[in-house]
Amino acid sequence: MAVILVTGANGQLGSELKETARYYYGYQFIFTDIDTLDITDKAQTETFIRSADPGWIINCAAYNLVDKAEKEQEKAMLINSSAVYNIAEAIRGRECRLIHLSSDYVFDGNSNVPYNEGSVVNPLNAYGKSKSEGEKAALKHYGSMVIRTSWLYSSFGSNFVKTIFEKGKENGTLSVVFDQTGSPTYAADLANAIMMIISGVIRNQLAFHAGIYHYSNEGVCSWYDLAVETINEAGLDCRIIPILSKDYQTAAARPSYSVLDKSKIKENYNLVIPHWRTSLKKCINMLK
Ligand SMILES: NC(=O)c1ccc[n+]([C@@H]2O[C@H](COP(=O)([O-])OP(=O)(O)OC[C@H]3O[C@@H](n4cnc5c(N)ncnc54)[C@H](OP(=O)(O)O)[C@@H]3O)[C@@H](O)[C@H]2O)c1
Repeated sequence: MAVILVTGANGQLGSELKETARYYYGYQFIFTDIDTLDITDKAQTETFIRSADPGWIINCAAYNLVDKAEKEQEKAMLINSSAVYNIAEAIRGRECRLIHLSSDYVFDGNSNVPYNEGSVVNPLNAYGKSKSEGEKAALKHYGSMVIRTSWLYSSFGSNFVKTIFEKGKENGTLSVVFDQTGSPTYAADLANAIMMIISGVIRNQLAFHAGIYHYSNEGVCSWYDLAVETINEAGLDCRIIPILSKDYQTAAARPSYSVLDKSKIKENYNLVIPHWRTSLKKCINMLK
């Protein structure tokens, strides 16, 4: 039976993987988080992996506090990079594939066409730097797939969509930046895509190709558009005011454009990706 180890499983993506796992019989899932497997602990990571002997690891563990990372650069680097190296070391020479998650924030946003996997990375902030280093750590293992995703949200955990949904109930108006463009990703869709890839490879219906991939929902929008759509779908009475990033100071700089080109993952793994508006509707229905 294929053993699939999930780290950071109490987060957004990990929680969606737990939901998706219900539909995958014949697989043994091991869901862990920092209390059961702290991936920054090299010895524990090695011992755990040796004992569980997974055929696949999905590394959802991460430090995702983009602004706080400016002050906690060492912590961000430890979790997002050194710990990934611990995993890569622990599976060295083993028949184990690693699916590691990275971010659109490895890019500087100076492009005006979607970034592909070969585009030059140039992170603007400490979080992006730690994710960029994490990619290199993951790719030290020959069987690693790095999936960069963007603007992740879910009915689990904390995220932009849930914040707008909650604040939209209380406030008459909310100001949201409109000069940052990207693509939202419903974590349930990403979890589904990951399991379709893994199960397809296990059943010999798909060939596994290591390397970097991009995944987000289809379509492009600004944070302002996403907020407006969230309020409309939720049927809330809240006015969203478009503002410029320069009028909304944050500790970390963010790319003004971080749309990901998803052609490679769609072609290699026969994926059909839903449009962000379709998926947002599903998530809002879960939240209602
Ligand atoms: N969220 C986004 O908008 C976004 C955008 C682009 C890419 N990504 C990437 O997508 C992946 C999944 O993100 P997500 O939003 O699902 O993350 P998340 O909700 O923040 O979940 C991460 C999980 O990892 C846990 N964790 C932290 N340190 C750990 C450690 N040392 N060992 C084991 N577990 C640890 C966290 O626990 P605590 O909560 O206790 O810290 C949390 O449960 C990450 O690689 C992330 O960088 C996310």
